[in-house]
Amino acid sequence: MTLDFRGKTALVTGASAGLGREMARILARDVDTLVLTARRQDRLDDLAAELRQFRSELRVHVRAVDLADRAATSAMLDGLASEGIAVDILINNAGYGVYGLFEKNDWSKLEGMLELNMISATLLLHRLIPGMVKRGFGAILNVGSTAGMVEMPGFAGYGATKAYFNHLSEALRGELSGTGVVLTALCPGPVETEFQAVAGTDKRGKLPALIHVDVVDCAEQAIAGLKRGRARVIPGLLGAVPLGGLPRLLTRPIFARAGKKVRREES
Ligand SMILES: NC(=O)c1ccc[n+]([C@@H]2O[C@H](COP(=O)([O-])OP(=O)(O)OC[C@H]3O[C@@H](n4cnc5c(N)ncnc54)[C@H](OP(=O)(O)O)[C@@H]3O)[C@@H](O)[C@H]2O)c1
Repeated sequence: MTLDFRGKTALVTGASAGLGREMARILARDVDTLVLTARRQDRLDDLAAELRQFRSELRVHVRAVDLADRAATSAMLDGLASEGIAVDILINNAGYGVYGLFEKNDWSKLEGMLELNMISATLLLHRLIPGMVKRGFGAILNVGSTAGMVEMPGFAGYGATKAYFNHLSEALRGELSGTGVVLTALCPGPVETEFQAVAGTDKRGKLPALIHVDVVDCAEQAIAGLKRGRARVIPGLLGAVPLGGLPRLLTRPIFARAGKKVRREES
């Protein structure tokens, strides 16, 4: 199966940087209409101009919205509906992480992360799935993470938001089976984007280069996997590791060592 995105409308969240921006560039090759959203209007405007130049017939709408604000997210969706813009493809990507010892994490950052990575992403699904089911076509890419498949001391809260999203994705995919709406979970390992600076991991030693995936490769694999209706895309070498099935007997001592290291770093 390969989905045909020609004539379709895609909404990309977190389109101002990293994976979202790259996925918007890829979708611009064949969709009819793109809606780009994130908070930084200037970045979205620049991308919109680039994409209009790339394909003159492409319609691009920019919506600068703080998606961690439920009312603002709903208002954006109401606005699209009232303009007759029906979303066929949702790239549910906006998100961030907060690195460090959980008890020392800044509460407002943690709370914003829970709101953005879980509530906002869920609200978008809840609002957009009914129209897709009604029209008998939809393609959803939920951006989870391998951090949601293996518990990670130092990324306790972030990993938990991604575990939620990975879990939700699998169940929703089941519920959507036979409706014409496909749902793919993208679960990347480390990808160099602005994520590291936002999360506060950029000043730490890097994870092994072997498990890193280039942002463009990751985005290409994600959209290709979505078009093929794959359940899950784990780009790079991590895709070959049975991450969810590692025995606790093995992982707990490793997590204890990792947790002590994070505590030492912050003391
Ligand atoms: N990079 C990695 O190693 C990695 C690995 C696994 C999973 N992921 C996931 O991949 C997704 C994309 O991350 P990335 O690596 O591309 O990071 P990134 O370069 O930091 O991009 C994050 C995007 O989310 C947007 N965003 C953040 N807060 C927002 C808010 N309150 N409202 C609206 N938009 C907001 C940002 O735009 P504004 O700042 O303009 O709002 C930006 O466009 C995230 O869900 C992340 O958890 C990343």
